[in-house]
Amino acid sequence: RVQPLVDRYGRVATDLRVSLTDRCNLRCTYCMPAEGLDWLPGDDQLTDDEVVRLIAIAVERLGVREVRFTGGEPLVRRGLVDIVRRTSALDPGVELSITTNGIGLARTAQALADAGLDRVNVSLDTVRPTTFQEITRRDRFDDVVAGLAAAEAAGLGPVKVNAVLLRGVNDDEAPELLRWCLERGYQLRFIEQMPLDAQHGWSREEMVTADEIFRHLDQEFALTPATEPRGSAPAELFLVDGGPATVGVIASVTRPFCGDCDRVRLTADGQVRNCLFARQESDLRAAMRAGATDEELADRWLVAMAGKAAGHGIDDPTFLQPDRPMSAIGG
Ligand code: GTP
Ligand code: 5AD
Ligand code: SF4
Repeated sequence: RVQPLVDRYGRVATDLRVSLTDRCNLRCTYCMPAEGLDWLPGDDQLTDDEVVRLIAIAVERLGVREVRFTGGEPLVRRGLVDIVRRTSALDPGVELSITTNGIGLARTAQALADAGLDRVNVSLDTVRPTTFQEITRRDRFDDVVAGLAAAEAAGLGPVKVNAVLLRGVNDDEAPELLRWCLERGYQLRFIEQMPLDAQHGWSREEMVTADEIFRHLDQEFALTPATEPRGSAPAELFLVDGGPATVGVIASVTRPFCGDCDRVRLTADGQVRNCLFARQESDLRAAMRAGATDEELADRWLVAMAGKAAGHGIDDPTFLQPDRPMSAIGG
C-alpha cells in the first residue's frame, strides 16, 4: 500500500522536513536583512489541519518515517504543540524532531515532549553574548541557553547544537564552542555555510570550510572518525579525545552528501521541494484547496520527487541560488 518517494537515481525520501512558518524572531546577518523579509501572507500559509493532512499522506501513503519541523522559527507558530500531538498520533513509530533557535523553548519544551516530540536541534553559533548579538541582531543569548537546558531536562535529548562559523566574526571560536557543549552534554555540529541567504551575499572564498574547522579543533582536541555508519545523515561524526563524546561536521559544500539524501521538504505555503536547492516546487496547497483527494495529492508528491536533481550543483559554473532563501524553505 505504501508507495515510496523514490527519485530517478534510486534515492528514497523517508525524512520529511516541514517548515511551519517563514518568520523568525532573530535576524541572523547570514540569513536575512535587519528589517526582515516579505513574510508569507496568512492565507497562503497552510492551516494546522492542512499541514497535518499532508503529513498524514506522507506517513501513511508515502513511507515517511521521520518528520522534522523547521521554519523560519517553528516555535513562533501558534499551533505547534497541537501539530506535534496530531502528528505523533498518526503513527507512534515516526520520529519527531524540531530545529529551532531556542528562543521560547524554556517555556514550551515540556509541552512539546508531552505532545510526542522526540528530539530538538538548537542553532547557536557562538557562546559569547556580544558576538551573539552581533550575529543575530538581538540580545537573546540567555533565552537560548535556558531553552537548551529545558530541552535536555524535558528528555528531548540528546540535544544537538548547530553552529555556522562566519569569517571575522566567530571563526576563532570552534574550540570554545566545543568545550562549552561538552561541559553540558550537547552534541555540537559545525555547518558549512551554503548559498541560501536572502541577501545573496554568500561567497565560497569567505565560507569557513570543514578543513579549517578541523585545523582549529586539532589544536585542543584529538578527533578520530566515529565508527557507526553515517547512513544518510548530513553530519560526519568524530570522537573527541577518544569518546564517548562526539562532534559533527556538516560539510555540505566541500564534501557533499547529496548521493545519500533521504529528504523531502514541505514549505509553510504547501509547496513540495525535492531538494533545498530545487528550482521547481509542486503546489500541493492549490491542489488541496481545489478539492484533490489524498490519493491525488500522494500522486503529485510522487511526481515531484521523481524529478529530484542528482546534487546541489554549487560548484557548477551555471549554479543559481534558489528563489527562496533558507528561512522560507526550512533548514
Ligand atoms: P539530525 O537528524 O538530528 O542529525 O538532523 P539534521 O542534521 O538532519 O537536521 P538539522 O535541521 O539540525 O540540520 C542541520 C543542518 O544541516 C542544516 O542547517 C543544513 O545546513 C544542513 N542540512 C539539512 N538538510 C540538508 C540537506 O538536505 N542538504 C544539505 N546540503 N544540507 C542540509
Ligand atoms: N547555510 C548553512 N546553514 C544555514 N543556516 C541558516 N542559513 C544557513 C546557510 N546559508 C542554519 C542555521 C540553523 C539551521 C536551521 O540552518 O544556522 O542552524
Ligand atoms: Fe532565524 Fe534561523 Fe535565519 Fe537565524 S538562521 S534568522 S534563527 S531562520
